Parts: sequence; C-alpha cells; structure tokens
Amino acid sequence: MKTKRIPAFSNWLILLALFALVGEALAGGHGRAPRPEDILMDPAKRTDITGTVLITGANRGIGLEMARNYAKRGWTVIATARKPEKAADLNAIAAEYDKVAVEQLDVLNQEQVDALAAKYKGKPIDVLLNNAAILGAPDQQKFGTYDFDLLQRVMNTNVAGPLRMAEAFADNVVASEQKKIVAITSVQGSITLIRGDTIQFYNASKSALNMSMRAVANAVKKQGVTVALISPGAVNTDMMREALGNSNVRMRLLTPADSAEAVINVIDQYGFDMSGTFMDHRGAKIPW
Ligand SMILES: NC(=O)c1ccc[n+]([C@@H]2O[C@H](COP(=O)([O-])OP(=O)(O)OC[C@H]3O[C@@H](n4cnc5c(N)ncnc54)[C@H](OP(=O)(O)O)[C@@H]3O)[C@@H](O)[C@H]2O)c1
Repeated sequence: MKTKRIPAFSNWLILLALFALVGEALAGGHGRAPRPEDILMDPAKRTDITGTVLITGANRGIGLEMARNYAKRGWTVIATARKPEKAADLNAIAAEYDKVAVEQLDVLNQEQVDALAAKYKGKPIDVLLNNAAILGAPDQQKFGTYDFDLLQRVMNTNVAGPLRMAEAFADNVVASEQKKIVAITSVQGSITLIRGDTIQFYNASKSALNMSMRAVANAVKKQGVTVALISPGAVNTDMMREALGNSNVRMRLLTPADSAEAVINVIDQYGFDMSGTFMDHRGAKIPW
C-alpha cells in the first residue's frame, strides 16, 4: 500500500519562506500585483532634476549604485561609508566625478553624525537618503532562537539610524529646493503582507521605520519637507544573499543598478502631497 509522504516541519518552514520570497520576487518586491489605481508614478520616467544628495551606506549594494546613478545624473553626492578607506568601488566613483565626496559615517555613532552635520552646516541637501541597514542573522531572529542583542542592533541601525540622520540634517533639507527625506524601507515591514517568521527582527525594524518616518513627515510638514518611504524591490545584494542563505531558492532579482535607477525616478516624482506614504520602486502603494 502506498503511504503519503508528509514533509518534515523544517521543510514546511523552508516552503513558507519560499512563498514569501517568491511572492516578493514575482511582484518585484511587493508581495502582490499592484492595482492600476495603486500606481502613483511612472518609475521609468527620468527627470533632469539635479541637486545635492547625502546617502548612508553608499559603499556597496543599492547605496553604491544610487551614488553612481546620482553622480551620472550630475548631482552633488555626499556618499558616506563606515570605512571609506576600504570603499574601493565608491572611491572609484569619486575619482571619476568631481561632485562626489566620500565621508566616514556610522549611523550608530552620534559623534560622527554630529561631526558630519557640523562640516556641512548651512549646505542645502535636497535629498537625505537613509539607505544603510542590516538584516541580522536569520537563525537568531526566528521564534525559539531570539538573540535580543541582535534585536537591539537591528533596531538601532534600521530605526534609530535614520531618525538620528533626519534630526541632524533637517536644517540642511529645509534649506534646499527639493526638501526630501527618504527612507529605504522594505515590503518586509508590511504588517498586511507578512508571511512566515524567518526574519522577524528585520520585519519589525522596517515596520517601526515606517511608523517613525510617518511621524517625522507630520513633524516637518510645516517646513515643506516631504518624507518618502520606498521599498527597492527584491535586489541581488549581500543582504538578499544572506536572507536566502543556503535555501537553494532561485528567484528573479533586480540588479542593484536597476533598483537604484527605479528608486531614484520614484524619489524625483515623489510629491509633497504624498509625504509619509509607503511605496515600492514601481511607484505602487504598499499596504501598511
Ligand atoms: N536587497 C534587497 O532585496 C532589499 C529589499 C528591501 C529593502 N532593502 C533595503 O535596501 C537598503 C540597502 O540594502 P542592500 O540590499 O544594499 O544591503 P547591503 O548590500 O547589505 O548594504 C548595506 C549597507 O548598509 C551599510 N551599513 C550597515 N550598518 C551601518 C551602520 N551602522 N552605519 C552606516 N552604514 C551601515 C553597510 O555598510 P558596511 O559595508 O560597512 O557594512 C552597507 O553599505 C537597506 O535599507 C535594506 O533594508 C533591500
């Protein structure tokens, strides 16, 4: 007699994670196909706007490609990295484009943030781009494996970091023409769309980032500042490779360069009337 094979519990967990990740990849980082009325802007639309952008975590991944993309568009780029002396790719961009400055910045370090803010005091910054974040080891943030030191590090980096930057550089943004504070968030922060439990601390940090930045949007509204929350899609970076781990999951991922191009086009079109909304790299609304 044939017996039905029931997958082991761990296989079910892998399947759950797979559904979540494949869903994100198929929908370009969204989790479901957006309805036409949810698409608020055309991510393929390039503008010829220029200005000054400050980017955190610009030495690799999406941040590096955003620095390159802005530099190519003729922007003045303040590209920050924890270890500028080791940021070879970023330094190569700075060597190629006059208007790119590489600065040291760890978003956990208040003194460094204050020193950079003092250095650029009075300099208008059109776009403050909070990109730096960590995922945290997936095997330390599942129910039953919680490492609370890791929770603190993830929250400090992904939530306190962007808040610290927003506070320190608010005057620079207010003094600029475009007046935008951007947080690179994730569909993984959507309470509506969450599936599985594999990266709980990261999920929680991006939900908290969304809430915090939404509140910052209220705080700076009177000064005409737009706060944008943008998810960059499912992108082939170190962070995504860490998330996929040894799962053998194969999925279609954006290149960091393609993600950066789409995100920048969305930032360019992100208007004051949209401040505090949560959207993806296609300009589609993401449910909270
Ligand atoms: N990849 C995806 O599919 C995906 C999807 C959704 C959202 N995102 C978001 O997109 C953003 C970029 O992610 P990524 O995939 O490009 O990640 P990544 O390749 O892991 O790069 C992360 C960057 O953040 C920097 N960083 C980490 N901690 C920092 C700190 N304390 N101070 C300053 N910089 C710090 C890293 O610098 P070091 O080199 O010094 O570590 C690195 O430059 C993140 O906000 C991430 O949550 C990514």
